[in-house]
Amino acid sequence: MSPYAHIAGWGMYAPARVLSNQDLEHMVDTTDEWIRSRTGIVERRIAGEKESTATMAVEAARRALARAHLSPRQLDAIIVATISPDHLTPATACLVQAALGADKAAAFDVSAGCSGFIYALSLAQMGITAGEWHSVLIIGAETLSRFVNWEDRNTCVLFGDGAGALVLTASDQPGGVLACVLGADGSGADLLVIPAGGSRMPASPATLEQHAHTIHMDGRAVFRFATHILPEAVEQVMRKAGLPLTAIDMVIPHQANMRIIEAARKKLRLPEEAFFVNLYRYGNTSAASIPIALCEVADHGLINDGSLVVLVGFGAGLTWGAAAVRWGVALPQPARPWWQRALYIARLAFGRLPAFLRRLLYRLWQALPSRRDEE
Ligand code: ACO
Repeated sequence: MSPYAHIAGWGMYAPARVLSNQDLEHMVDTTDEWIRSRTGIVERRIAGEKESTATMAVEAARRALARAHLSPRQLDAIIVATISPDHLTPATACLVQAALGADKAAAFDVSAGCSGFIYALSLAQMGITAGEWHSVLIIGAETLSRFVNWEDRNTCVLFGDGAGALVLTASDQPGGVLACVLGADGSGADLLVIPAGGSRMPASPATLEQHAHTIHMDGRAVFRFATHILPEAVEQVMRKAGLPLTAIDMVIPHQANMRIIEAARKKLRLPEEAFFVNLYRYGNTSAASIPIALCEVADHGLINDGSLVVLVGFGAGLTWGAAAVRWGVALPQPARPWWQRALYIARLAFGRLPAFLRRLLYRLWQALPSRRDEE
């Protein structure tokens, strides 16, 4: 029998700096009243100078691993969902892998807009149920503040930075991720796009001047798409899980706009308390929004063992995805002596040391005169 993919740990990271609607009033032609009433957002977090998508992902990952009582060396794969990676290449997941010291893990990124985390979750589930992976770390992390045109009121009021992570492990106990559905409609690719910086429009002084390295969005079109795809994806995933909509205890939607969430809730005829919303504190953190919300739901005890949770997202691509999860089937945690726990904490703290030493070795190797130089 194929194993089940259970959520064994979760963790989030939000940068300390808060940017409020009032702050934005001094930056662009907008008002707190407009932002609140049209989106529901009150404030968002902005990454510090030394922070990036990878550093925030690592923080969230450490917290998720600690909760799962798992060493980074036990991970088989690390998947980072992001549209604001540290670099075009290498993958941000590789930077995370090195920082954690997860030297047995495959590492790659997923780019599916705000649905990216659901795509990563689905891949992790497939790897685990196929028997290929035992433990997988998935992270949604974004530094959208670096890809926003701070002079464009249509977009800059919407987005924020942060990261959320889950550890999934294989178990024989039924439950965990019950079903996932994924979808895409590339005909809407131009509705939400960062036009420059890729192979189609490489960086140049002109692209910089045109703000072509920042998010360009047709907000109304994305809004229309979101209000119909969100309830549809929830219905699809519940059908796939073989459960009625009434079995849902909590929906955790992508946190983009309060009006989108409210429209979806009404269409699904679910009660207000069945939808978790925290966008007023973080804004739209794209691929990070669902795992950040899930962490808050779990930490505040809003779901219990056996709760049926639906995660649902939509975003650039256009893409969408939903996952039905049976929460909290207890996984056996081996009792460990104090010295093993201390070793575990030290490993998490000094995880980047092996990668640092290997990098040093590569540099020394390069510095050595090659045979051709000698000839
Ligand atoms: N402050 C004041 N006025 C503004 C602002 C602002 N920050 N932004 C836009 N306006 C103005 C517009 O210029 C427009 O003025 P006009 O009528 O004179 O032209 C007016 O407000 C209304 O604009 P709309 O675009 O119709 O406003 P709407 O009610 O649709 O709200 C919004 C705009 C919030 C962007 C909404 O369309 C939305 O949330 N869309 C979905 C966006 C989304 O979810 N994107 C993320 C996808 S996920 C991903 O992959 C990253």
